[in-house]
Amino acid sequence: MKIIASNFKTNHTRASTKDFVAQVKQFVVQKDIQTPIYIFPPATALDSFELPKNVTLGVQNAYPTKNGSFTGEIGTEQLDEFGIKTVLIGHSERRHVLGESQKISIEKFNFYKELGYNIIYCIGEKLEVKEQGVDKTLEYCFGQLDGIDISYENLIIAYEPVWAIGTGVVATTEDISTIHNALKQKIDSPILYGGSVKPSNLAEILKIESVDGSLIGTSSWEIESFQQMIEITSKA
Ligand code: 13P
Repeated sequence: MKIIASNFKTNHTRASTKDFVAQVKQFVVQKDIQTPIYIFPPATALDSFELPKNVTLGVQNAYPTKNGSFTGEIGTEQLDEFGIKTVLIGHSERRHVLGESQKISIEKFNFYKELGYNIIYCIGEKLEVKEQGVDKTLEYCFGQLDGIDISYENLIIAYEPVWAIGTGVVATTEDISTIHNALKQKIDSPILYGGSVKPSNLAEILKIESVDGSLIGTSSWEIESFQQMIEITSKA
């Protein structure tokens, strides 16, 4: 079964998230969809939603701590309040916009692995790396897995080329299958693709055998579009 995940990034409010989640739930129940669905709202919109078994709420980021003095961050004390056990780590915006190092990604990974969290760990190259060819791209992506236990049972990898995120530029199916096939040689975990995925290209991307699902930003923020993509994923 292929997987679908929505990363809200810095979009949606507490009220609109509640509405979004309710509509996902209704859609999934009504169409009897079993596809694993992940939703990553902003931290201010976390809540104890009653969800079908296949729908999981996660956080876009969390600090490797229970609590403490880490201004602007949240830890497991805040996650436990809502029973959240799923975390995104190493998203390219954390790495390249917020300046997070591989070291902190590893610290987060080890901390949340120890607690048994589901971890969606993101990797992906910038355009200047892609332009140096496939070998360099793979070297770069494997470098982002340095220090990460890729045999962790609750791990999902997301391959998101930075040049394809939020740009409307989708990687070609050849680009995607080349990288995913190479990753699959070493990784048993599911591998999602992310970067300008939308209802019009999702089916084609999911046809690639080494793509186990998608992690979607922009086109997942509107409920009708996300529902359409849930349905496409359920039929893939
Ligand atoms: P877009 O779908 O907006 O390109 O974002 C992809 C992404 O970064 C998901 O985490």
